[in-house]
Amino acid sequence: MLPRPYHIRNVCRRILDRRSYAPLLALLLLVLASGFLFSNRRPDELPPLPVLSAESESPASVLRSPGPPTYAKLWAWEQALPQHSLDMPYPEGKEGRYVRYSNMARRLGFNNILNEVLMNTHLSYMSKRAFVFPTYHWALNHYQWPPSQRLEEQPKTPLNAFISGPSAGGLWGEGDNAPRSVSEAWYEVVCPESERRIINTTDVKPQIGAAEGDKIFATWQKLLSEAPERCIDVVPALYEADNFPQVFDLWLWGSPRILSLWDSFSKSPTSTLLQTSPIVEAAVNRNRYLFHPRGPRPPHPAPHDPYKRMLAMHVRRGDYQQACEALADFGSTFYGWNMLPFLPDVFTPLPHGHPDRVERAMEHCSPSLDAILTKVHVARAEYLRASQTKTLDVLYILTNERDEWLEELLAALRKENWGTLVTSHELELDAEQIDVSGAVDMDIARRAAVFIGNGWSSFTSNIVHRRLVEGKIPLSIRFY
Ligand SMILES: *[C@@H]1O[C@H](CO)[C@@H](O)[C@H](O)[C@H]1NC(C)=O
Repeated sequence: MLPRPYHIRNVCRRILDRRSYAPLLALLLLVLASGFLFSNRRPDELPPLPVLSAESESPASVLRSPGPPTYAKLWAWEQALPQHSLDMPYPEGKEGRYVRYSNMARRLGFNNILNEVLMNTHLSYMSKRAFVFPTYHWALNHYQWPPSQRLEEQPKTPLNAFISGPSAGGLWGEGDNAPRSVSEAWYEVVCPESERRIINTTDVKPQIGAAEGDKIFATWQKLLSEAPERCIDVVPALYEADNFPQVFDLWLWGSPRILSLWDSFSKSPTSTLLQTSPIVEAAVNRNRYLFHPRGPRPPHPAPHDPYKRMLAMHVRRGDYQQACEALADFGSTFYGWNMLPFLPDVFTPLPHGHPDRVERAMEHCSPSLDAILTKVHVARAEYLRASQTKTLDVLYILTNERDEWLEELLAALRKENWGTLVTSHELELDAEQIDVSGAVDMDIARRAAVFIGNGWSSFTSNIVHRRLVEGKIPLSIRFY
């Protein structure tokens, strides 16, 4: 096991050597930095590039109490979803049409998976097929419990612990006859191997190339809609041919080409019916007392709802520091929905060879304390000017950091008239809620009046998605 900087440098060098892939693709470094593997590969088949020693980077080196959740009841609930029955009438049951994406990424950070889960659900819906929803397999360096406490070598979490809605087997809209999503285990039952048509991404992706997102979507929609077979399994190309063999791959999520999908995706029932899971909702609610305004009574009427008075900001450092340097050097754009051009903070990388290129990007990807304070100041002032609200006095910091730097930031913010100042570390969570604590933070950020995120982050992008779908104004969504 090698120390982290070695890995990062090594990975960067290998990636940076591949200039032919175009600069905007460098966002994958953030993914690499989280130690990913693809679903269909056994460890001994792993290509050299993604083998970061996940274990050595685990945040969980000490035993923690409570131990990991078993999710016994939630697994049973998922298994017993009503659509998991051969007797359901068409378009479900034994006559139904299904698509499984065996080419989905696994053991990646949850938010990279979530992007794919949502877009694949939308594609399946538009193709009139039931989406086969995956179980989340942890990137081991993100898992909260050390190896000695784990219930299994490769920890898994039911998708329904993170999200609710059609993507995870929930209902479509009233009167919508679309088939509900089913589990991977149910796919094995309802789609025996003999009835599956295999679609290998090798046979589709090279023809589409680096097309606009909507073109990629339309190509797959036609293929999945017109196929006469009831059951489809989309399988990945060989790693040597395509190291990101997803339908909507990282090259797309890291490029403005994704934006042509925003209109249809944001209005789709996949987006509008996406909901917070009950486990996450319960975690947010039980901690609500922390957010109650504690400052002086404001001079004008102020809402009682603490989220209407809240600014939430995502401060992630640690592994981001080095990833940011590589991204900056590479000239990477923002990630996914963070690139939407109507959002107030747009970032355009300086061209190759420009002397300030790295420095300029670092100012946004890994902002200094002063830059963060200025952003909080500006975001608050501009929002108050533009909105009906006159009070923004609750500050929530989403962070996995516990260092002196964070203490310094908190000390500086305490001088800025925030009556209530809370960080992720103060939340009281049970085992299941600890397991999905990233989603708990995301939900608080979704509710907050104003959100400041990191433009290169998929975590931020998924928060931006829900905020916009729920009608929050662009000026309430800021990036460093
Ligand atoms: C996809 O096609 C390639 C090229 O024909 C093949 O080598 C690979 O094994 C296929 N993938 C799967 C999962 O069957």
